[in-house]
Amino acid sequence: MLGAAAAAAPAGFAGLVAGLRDGAAGLRWGQTYGASDFGADFLRGYGWTELIGLRGPIASDDVAVGFLLLGPGLDYPAHAHEAEEVYLPLSGTALWQRGEAGFAPVAPGVVIRHPSWMPHAMRTGGEALVAAYVWRGGDLAAKSRILAG
Ligand SMILES: [Fe+2]
Repeated sequence: MLGAAAAAAPAGFAGLVAGLRDGAAGLRWGQTYGASDFGADFLRGYGWTELIGLRGPIASDDVAVGFLLLGPGLDYPAHAHEAEEVYLPLSGTALWQRGEAGFAPVAPGVVIRHPSWMPHAMRTGGEALVAAYVWRGGDLAAKSRILAG
């Protein structure tokens, strides 16, 4: 998944995604959800690695910074969390949904912000999504609240 994402990343992010690909085996990857949340297929294509935060190699109580992976053809249903979240997609144009708005494509390089408790969802098409994320405020290790679809 990361190999294809590195190949598809725009020039400004290609080196970063390639570095993530090359270093992936040495990073600790986590999943916040279980199969009962969004199904087993989702878990096969979803994961994150945290570099800064409660669970990262660089400790912080105030901010969490890491990378999210979402494989092709996945639906990350509506959810919300107390922490404010900022995403920077690095590879893959996915459909993103915020608040009451409909799904809209977001290209790599376009920053997406979810204020505290704003519902949001993502869907990938043919491309995997690799995105950097920042969480701040609230419980930085909390599982998101899953919202009825
Ligand atoms: Fe989120």
